[in-house]
Formats: sequence, C-alpha cells, structure tokens
Amino acid sequence: AKYTVVDKETCIACGACGATAPEIFDYNDEGIAFSILDGNTGITEVPEELEEDLEDAFDGCPTDSIKLATEPFTNKSVPVG
Ligand code: F3S
Repeated sequence: AKYTVVDKETCIACGACGATAPEIFDYNDEGIAFSILDGNTGITEVPEELEEDLEDAFDGCPTDSIKLATEPFTNKSVPVG
C-alpha cells in the first residue's frame, strides 16, 4: 500500500505532478500541489492502479515535495488543500 502527501512548504508550483498523475494531484489557487485523494492528509491508500503514476510524479518532482509512505501519514499539521 502507498500513501502520499505534498509538502506545500517546499512545493514550487512547478506543475509536474498534476500533469503526471492528474488523478492524484491538483493545485490550489497559488499553484501549490496537494493530494486530492484525501485533502492532502495522506491517510487514504493510493489505488493500486495509480501507483505507477505516483512513482513517476515522485521521481519527477524537482523539489522532492511529494512524500511517499507505506503507512498512513499521521502528522495532523500537514496543511489541507
Ligand atoms: Fe510542487 Fe513538485 Fe508538484 S514542486 S507542483 S509538488 S511536482
């Protein structure tokens, strides 16, 4: 199982992740990315059919802002949206 969140503090709104994995990532008004699966909380398992897109987005983020884990994220301070 895979879980993901975007670190919005380090995202530079490059736009790569939403292009690579549009079913996982979208952008707020400032172009900062977030996971649409769970409001960027990282608690919802990424559907298996999207894992490859997720890996590609992870590899493609120039600032390493896409975080991956095999267990749900529990840091409640991760900003939503
Ligand atoms: Fe931001 Fe990285 Fe996506 S910089 S827009 S999280 S590819």
